[in-house]
Amino acid sequence: MPKITVRNILELKESGKPIVALTAYDYFTAKYIDSAGVDIILVGDSLEMVIYGSDTTLTANMDKMLFHTEAVAKATKNAMVVGDMPFLSYQGSLGDAVLNAGRFLQAGAQAVKIEGGWKFSAVVRAIVDSGIPVMGHIGMLPQSVHRIGGYITQGEDEDSSRRLFEDASSLQEAGAFSIVLEKVDSNTAKKITQNLNIPTIGIGAGSHCDGQILVINDILGLYDKFTPPFVKQYTNLKEEIIRSAKSYAEDVRNKKFPKQEG
Ligand code: KIV
Repeated sequence: MPKITVRNILELKESGKPIVALTAYDYFTAKYIDSAGVDIILVGDSLEMVIYGSDTTLTANMDKMLFHTEAVAKATKNAMVVGDMPFLSYQGSLGDAVLNAGRFLQAGAQAVKIEGGWKFSAVVRAIVDSGIPVMGHIGMLPQSVHRIGGYITQGEDEDSSRRLFEDASSLQEAGAFSIVLEKVDSNTAKKITQNLNIPTIGIGAGSHCDGQILVINDILGLYDKFTPPFVKQYTNLKEEIIRSAKSYAEDVRNKKFPKQEG
């Protein structure tokens, strides 16, 4: 199967086939979920929370993101790899934003994601004009958690719904090829999805989006600080790890492993 391109992602919207996206941060997880046939692998700045144990994504930086993007890109044969631009890597000058976006492509990603609505449309346009596909991200913005005041659903009242619609339209206008809707009221997500030509990819934004994305550690039961209510956990690897480590410890203490030599 050839590598999934921006054109393929747009075709999925046109055909009405849901887009499947997951995060990954390391070589082998990326290899396995790529072989499962996901369309997009996002190297999310969520790694700061689910891999490094921080309370927010704000401490992710370019070095860390590029390090993980390289590992994921090396393992991914088919899915589109999207690098998540960390806090402060695109909020300064347009030149810095373009240079930082380009570094993700040099690390093997095919696109970058940035958080923010119409205020970031000039940034999106500058990056797209440099030949780099951009995925937008609106709704609950983890990099703006202190301004927003928590991980709160967005677009529930008329005013905030209208603002999100305007954000989505301006990102499309600026050249974004898709938009993540995070914790967006499902009626607002439906309206945006129905009126945009580019696909919406929801996380906690209901069933009307063109695709869905979740954090891999959440669906595998590997992150136990909190589980957002919209997550579906498909297995419990935390329990498996504890069980396996206990069995190993028991075997070593009881001299069952390694095989005893005479
Ligand atoms: O960082 C991340 O994993 C994300 C997804 C939750 C969309 O931005």
